[in-house]
This record gives sequence, structure tokens and C-alpha cells, in this order.
Amino acid sequence: MAFPIQKVLKLAHSTFSKLSKGIAVDTGSLSPIKSLLDQIRASDVDFDASNFRGRQAPVTYVKLYEDRVMSVGIFVMRNGAKLPLHDHPGMYGLCKTIHGEMKVESYSRAVMSDDVIMRKMSTLPFSNVIPVNKKDSACLSEEDECCVLTPDSGNFHEIRAVGDMAAFLDILAPPYDYETMTRTCQYYTLLEDTDEFNDLQVQWLNEIDEPRDFWCDSSDYTGPTLQDI
Ligand SMILES: [Fe+2]
Repeated sequence: MAFPIQKVLKLAHSTFSKLSKGIAVDTGSLSPIKSLLDQIRASDVDFDASNFRGRQAPVTYVKLYEDRVMSVGIFVMRNGAKLPLHDHPGMYGLCKTIHGEMKVESYSRAVMSDDVIMRKMSTLPFSNVIPVNKKDSACLSEEDECCVLTPDSGNFHEIRAVGDMAAFLDILAPPYDYETMTRTCQYYTLLEDTDEFNDLQVQWLNEIDEPRDFWCDSSDYTGPTLQDI
């Protein structure tokens, strides 16, 4: 009998393998993955918070699985640590809290003409700004549903531990690709400027270098085997 984490990843893999064949994944087909992922708890992936205390790194990554279809891992954030505001270009993602409490703030790219963006840029001392609409701001713990991002929705997010250590299981498809540089992670700050377009509040992100106070170490996964999914 398959373990719950094996079932989730098997389903995610078969769903997201369509992407590598050029077939689009509609948000409806993410629902069955989300339903299974919502049930996942720390014990399903043998996560024990006490193993992660006393480390220097603000964030630890535990790799569960990775191939050309998807990457799956656990991000463990120390008290007050965060994954700075970043994006997932052309990717889908599901994040399920498995320990503690974390605050997720997510944004979607606002639909806006290049003219308007160029005009905005001309008023700012930055060369690359992106218009976004706020999608969500939520505090999530293990009893809460996972959050879902797609290429068009919630693709930018910041995730921070609230109160004490927090950890979440992260499924990304397709994975970041630093070999061909087709999907790389960029970091952003939120500018204070807010504008109004078509009755929608637009905020602006400015691309920045990876923040110096953010770094990740790694730890081994000890849960059920995932090689045969
Ligand atoms: Fe992310």
C-alpha cells in the first residue's frame, strides 16, 4: 500500500508530466493534487522540528524528489526567517504548511500595456519594474489548505515563519532550470508606489539581487522512499 506522500507525488508527477509534452495544465486538474496534499502532515514525511533547531542558516531545504517534471522539497524557516519575495516563471506550485505557522503574501502579474509600464519606469530610478495585483495574504498552519500558484496567478510570493520555526512542503513544476536558464528565480522588493488602473489597485515590484541575509543549507530526507513514483 502506498504512503500518502507517495500518492500525492505520483498524481502530481502524472499531471505535470503533460507540461513536458507541451500540454497545458488547467487549474481544475490541480484540485485532486491539492486535495491529497491538504491531508499531508509532518509525520507523513518524517519531519521532526527538533532536528532543525540550532542551525545557523535561516532556511534549510530537504530535497524529496527532483527530475525534469517537478521538484519537491521541504523548506524549514527558523523563527523570523523568510523566503524573500521571489517568482516562479512559467511554473506551477503547491505549498503545504507541515509545521508551525507561516505568513504567505502572494501577487499576480497585472495585465498592463508595455506603454504604461515604460511610462512608470521613466518616473523611477529602476530599470525593471513589474506591475502586480495582490492575490493573498494569509497565515497558514498544518490544518490549513495548501496554497496554489500558476504561471498567471500568485506567481510572486514571500513566505515567512511566524512566532517560531515553520516548515512547508513545496511542489514546483516544471522545476527551476539553471542549465538552460529558462526558469530562474528572481528576487523583488515591493515599491511603495500604488496606482489605480481600471479600478484595480496596482503595486510595483522592483527586481533585486538575492538578499544577503537569505541563505539555505540542506538536510537529508528520511521519509518513505519516493524513487518509484
Ligand atoms: Fe516560492
